[in-house]
Formats: sequence, structure tokens, C-alpha cells
Amino acid sequence: MGSASSTVVKAKATYQPLGSVWDGEDAELLENVLSFYPRTTPKRILDATVNGGRFWSGSKRPVIGLDIEIQHRPDIVADNVRMPFRGEAFDVVVYDPPHIPNQGKDNEKDFNTRFGLVLRSPKENGYTFSHTYPPFATEAYRVLKPEGILLCKIADYVHHHRYNWAHLDFIQAATQVGFRACDCIIKIRKGPIIDPRWKIAHHTRRQHCYWLVFRKSPKCE
Ligand SMILES: C[S@@+](CC[C@H](N)C(=O)[O-])C[C@H]1O[C@@H](n2cnc3c(N)ncnc32)[C@H](O)[C@@H]1O
Repeated sequence: MGSASSTVVKAKATYQPLGSVWDGEDAELLENVLSFYPRTTPKRILDATVNGGRFWSGSKRPVIGLDIEIQHRPDIVADNVRMPFRGEAFDVVVYDPPHIPNQGKDNEKDFNTRFGLVLRSPKENGYTFSHTYPPFATEAYRVLKPEGILLCKIADYVHHHRYNWAHLDFIQAATQVGFRACDCIIKIRKGPIIDPRWKIAHHTRRQHCYWLVFRKSPKCE
């Protein structure tokens, strides 16, 4: 048997399908995703928003954790739009950006600690974080090897009665710098994110987010 056909036989033997809806922990999903998409076992993984590192609980993957906030004790304290790494240094980059905008003038709510906001976004940016996606995408593209994978956990949200399409903003930012958008997994949350100020809102309560999968490659498969 030739080597190409034996590779196909081996791939078929180890193939485990992955569903497009996930109702479980991120760490378990990531483990499945990292066995599913990369063409070879990733040797270097960067978590570019590592925070407390919950994605890697129980994992033996070779992960470098980066965060802008020193109090999370990441491996590297840095801004992920200017990362201190050479080009093509990683096989996988994981990104879980802040996802809830400031709650207007209401400074009493603890959205920072509850939802990982950490930073604030000014009015001129529409109180959203979408303006941070293009510089991050450029940097992620630079530090990924060819065929490398970018995994992004992202939630849409309603702010000031307006739906903010964060996942579309991110797809646009990533594809503009050259990534191919390859897949989308819906992750179900245990409960919806609710701004306590709005008792009545004519939007569905968001009870899911997305894991988006990109490849630094002209093709996904
Ligand atoms: C939603 S939390 C990530 C949570 C993490 N995935 C976990 O499960 O533990 C977002 C993190 O991104 C970090 N962050 C925000 N802006 C950043 C930037 N420009 N560069 C690096 N880290 C940043 C925040 O400090 C925060 O820890």
C-alpha cells in the first residue's frame, strides 16, 4: 500500500466527528477542537487573553498564557495587539476577548468581574470592543505559522436596545487580514447574560456564544 493511501486509512481510523453545538465546559471543547482541526499535533499554543487560565484546567497542552493585566499572573504580560513574539511562532492562537460593553453611566454593576470586561471602552467606540479586533487579527496572523489555527470565543450582545454583532465584526476583521473562516460552534451558556437595568427588552436573552475557527491558509480542509 502506498504512503498516501495509508495516511488516509490512518486518518479514517482516528476520525471523531465534532458537533456544531456544545453544551459543556470550554476546556473540554478546546481539547476536542485541538484534536480535530490542526493537521498535526500543536507544539506551541498561545492563549492571548488567558486571564485565570480556565480554558486549560486539566490540560497537558503546551500553552503560553498572555494577558494585559498582571494580576492574573500570565506567563507574559503584554498587549495582544503588540505581542513580544517572532513571526510564525505558534501553531494555535486562542482568543477570548472582553465581551460586555460598559453599562453606560451605571458604575455600580460588577460587570468587570462577572463577565471579564476588565477594560472599558469609550463612547467614540460605541462602548464596544469591535475596534480591537482588526489590530489583534493582524497580530495573530503574524505570530501564527502557515496552516495555523485561530480559535475565538465571542458573544453577541444587546446594548442600549441595539444588537451588537460581535461575531460578524470579528469574522470581518480576521478575513480582512488573510484568515480563512472555517467553522463556527455554538456554545450554550448555563443562563443568559442579563443587564439588570432592563426588566423588559424585546430581544431574546443571549444564551449562547460562538467558537469561531480560522485557518492561516487558503483552504480549510
Ligand atoms: C474574557 S477574559 C478571558 C477569560 C479566560 N479565557 C478564562 O476562561 O479564564 C478576557 C481577558 O482578556 C484580557 N485582555 C483584554 N484586553 C487585552 C489586551 N489588549 N491584551 C491582552 N489581554 C487582554 C483581560 O485582562 C482578561 O483577562
